[in-house]
Amino acid sequence: MSSYENYTRTSDDYDRTRQAVGIELIKVGLARGNQPLARQVLLDAGCGTGQYSKALLSQVAKIEALDINANMLCHAREKFGQADLIHKISFHESAISTIPLADNTVNGVIINQVLHHLSDSAAHDWRAHRAVFAELARVLRPGGAIVINSCSHLQLERGFWFYHLIPSALRQIKERTCDISMITQLLFDAGFEAPENTAAVDIVMQGDAYFNPAGVIDSEWRSGDSIWALATEEDLQSAIKTVEQLTTTASLSTYFETHDQHRSSIGQLTFTSAIRGA
Ligand SMILES: C[S@@+](CC[C@H](N)C(=O)[O-])C[C@H]1O[C@@H](n2cnc3c(N)ncnc32)[C@H](O)[C@@H]1O
Repeated sequence: MSSYENYTRTSDDYDRTRQAVGIELIKVGLARGNQPLARQVLLDAGCGTGQYSKALLSQVAKIEALDINANMLCHAREKFGQADLIHKISFHESAISTIPLADNTVNGVIINQVLHHLSDSAAHDWRAHRAVFAELARVLRPGGAIVINSCSHLQLERGFWFYHLIPSALRQIKERTCDISMITQLLFDAGFEAPENTAAVDIVMQGDAYFNPAGVIDSEWRSGDSIWALATEEDLQSAIKTVEQLTTTASLSTYFETHDQHRSSIGQLTFTSAIRGA
């Protein structure tokens, strides 16, 4: 279960502002594995509403789609209800720390925007991350690739125009987000090799919705980024008030551009790939 977001509540709105992004980068990462993509059995760890599984299903042999939240999984299942490819996907309601698959059963793993939901931090020596990487290494065959989609600390600080409006949430998300250099270290510790990191400068996590700064005052829009669940009520009301005032003075677009200026050079997301050692 996410340690802070109520996905049972936000699952109905999730697809309104989120989409599968970085698919080409994910495919490049998976192709580093020792099986051609078309022959890979893929684990989508923390599949959510199934957007990434949907985007990849026609290109792989099979997908094991796993999520801890029943409502998110329900939306994922609906996406494949009538589809021709339904026989190629299985759903599992489970934690990524206890995956109901035998050892060495998948050829590739994707894990998109999930790790920061673990109850973990540097103060806990990233214990929960270590357990998850060990579990992913257990089910992944030697030579298979893992692709992790996460945000670096710099991307959290500078890649999202509105995060500074909710400083309590920004502080907490950084605490619970394992920065890229530490992810690399933990991957080595879990038996992965040859990690590669790509900061995606032309990809925006919330897609077109991100470019609607007035969205801050809309709870559905806010459901597209779980950082809002970490904001104190005081910070939330202050953020809404700021955006309302900027709208009144017709200066919201300028404000957005000023606070969005670093995104084009640092991006919002980093894709880390690595190979399961023998
Ligand atoms: C931000 S959503 C990402 C969903 C999907 N990967 C995507 O990018 O569209 C995070 C997902 O991780 C799931 N999740 C959080 N902690 C989990 C855990 N310990 N085990 C399995 N799933 C988890 C949540 O239920 C949620 O569906």
